[in-house]
Amino acid sequence: MAERILVCIAWPYAKSVTHVGQIVGSILPGDIFARYQRMAGNEVLMVSGSDAHGTPITVEADAEGISPAEVVERYHTQILKVWERLGVSWDHYTVTTNPTHYEAVQQFFLTLLEKGYLFKETTTSPYCPTDDRFLQDRYILGTCPNCGFPRARGDQCEQCGKLLDPEQLIDPYCRICLSKESTIEFRETEHYFWDLPKVQPALEEWAKTAMTHWRPHVVGVVNGWLNEGLKPRAFTRDIDWGVPVPVPGFENKRIYVWYDAVMGYYTATIEWAKQRGTPDAWKDWWVTTEENPQPSKSYYFIGKDNITFHTIIWPALLLGHGGLVLPYDVPANEFMQMGGAKASASEGNVVWTPDALDRYGPDALRYYLAAVMPEQRDTNFSYEDLVRRNNDELVAAFGNAAHRTLTFVQKHFAGKVPPAGALTAEDEALLAATRAAFDAAGEAINAVRLRDGLNEAMSLARVVNKYLDDQAPWKTIKTDRERAGTALNVVIQALGALRLLLAPYIPHACQKLHELLGFEGEVAQCTWAYAPVPEGQTLPAPTPLFTKFDPPVEATVQG
Ligand code: MF3
Ligand code: ZN
Repeated sequence: MAERILVCIAWPYAKSVTHVGQIVGSILPGDIFARYQRMAGNEVLMVSGSDAHGTPITVEADAEGISPAEVVERYHTQILKVWERLGVSWDHYTVTTNPTHYEAVQQFFLTLLEKGYLFKETTTSPYCPTDDRFLQDRYILGTCPNCGFPRARGDQCEQCGKLLDPEQLIDPYCRICLSKESTIEFRETEHYFWDLPKVQPALEEWAKTAMTHWRPHVVGVVNGWLNEGLKPRAFTRDIDWGVPVPVPGFENKRIYVWYDAVMGYYTATIEWAKQRGTPDAWKDWWVTTEENPQPSKSYYFIGKDNITFHTIIWPALLLGHGGLVLPYDVPANEFMQMGGAKASASEGNVVWTPDALDRYGPDALRYYLAAVMPEQRDTNFSYEDLVRRNNDELVAAFGNAAHRTLTFVQKHFAGKVPPAGALTAEDEALLAATRAAFDAAGEAINAVRLRDGLNEAMSLARVVNKYLDDQAPWKTIKTDRERAGTALNVVIQALGALRLLLAPYIPHACQKLHELLGFEGEVAQCTWAYAPVPEGQTLPAPTPLFTKFDPPVEATVQG
């Protein structure tokens, strides 16, 4: 039975073109999953957008001497190009500066206020006397009390990942003036606070049942937070870039970026519905009723640094609001290191997505990232490894099997799928493996074990290669044309299956194979099921599916 699958993918900050760590952490797994679910016959809505607010953006704007809006516009445009090149199948990709977002976030805020989840309180905030302004957490740098990293931010240490308060930093200093002499002061300011302890019981009850199928490392984080007990958190900030607080007297404050960002999953769905001319359609995905407590299954594809925001903060916001569907799964990925060290844009140790695309194109990159996706533990990126896997796996296993077969059929069978005669045990075995791969790979992908799903398909590719070597139609053709034709027919059935099984992972090559096998239309529109390539189908002149790459000359990931 068809289900509604809401695929929510972490919102990249509109402050860079994205790096491959973000692609492997959230974008690619979400895209693979969504592509599979569509082929499996489910109704899919895949949403995200560029995260426009918060200090990551204002820090960049300050550094360049331009406005935050200009930073956002520039990078949002560039990010859209990256999605196009990488082949990310968004149903809606927006940006948190869109008016629908502002409106819906403010409405969300007012609902929480009305329901008694927000209260006002005067607190003290870090303030730089040199710059004469309140400093957001990210504007304060200092030494991490946990790991000793000297450039830890006031909100989180990039080295060890620990969430911090600016007060905890050792020798804090202001990121704007970098003055280590002028001491950071703490001044009074009024803010809205979120009464998180009030949501804790409901959150615990939900988590208990929801987490039964979650990844163990995600469950660990959630339990850690719940056991420690939730504390009230500031909901507003002394900043002028973000969603305005819809309450008089708060004109100079904004809603905290993380709260508006996670609400983006919901507001993007509202915007999507509006833009397609069915303004109420978002309700089918979000609004819970007694008869329909789960209007959609929502999956949140994120990196592990975002687990708390998606498993505690966002569910708590949803519970406070009421009537909206909670996350079904949050299959967070671990980290992918870069050349053996932690990926960090601020430390200069990242591979920018457009650079990787320039070198190797979308499919080699997607294939490699899927093959080493950090689903259970941290993994490591290197161009050497990418090239090796491209050459040994995509080219040598899958690509060769396809190319050998298709050129041979072109030459000896006038480019038409030869008929299958009597099947041998070997033929039957390959066909059985081909059929079985749909269930095995589908089950894996549905359980968000995407590496396993890829392995199922690639094992079949290797079996096909071995079958080709064993059957050697280029030899049998000389003595038994019918037998050669049968073997080729069987291989073509397996290739037809591989074009579907691999389509979520390497959509461009699979579209090409789709056409080389004589099909029209889009492979992405095909059904996830074994369907024979008809005998006699006309095949166009083949060209190779993949390119073999020379080993990269550089030893570093940066290139
Ligand atoms: N832009 C943030 C990040 O890249 C948040 C992403 S997910 C969101 O870490 F839902 F919170 F937006
Ligand atoms: Zn300062």
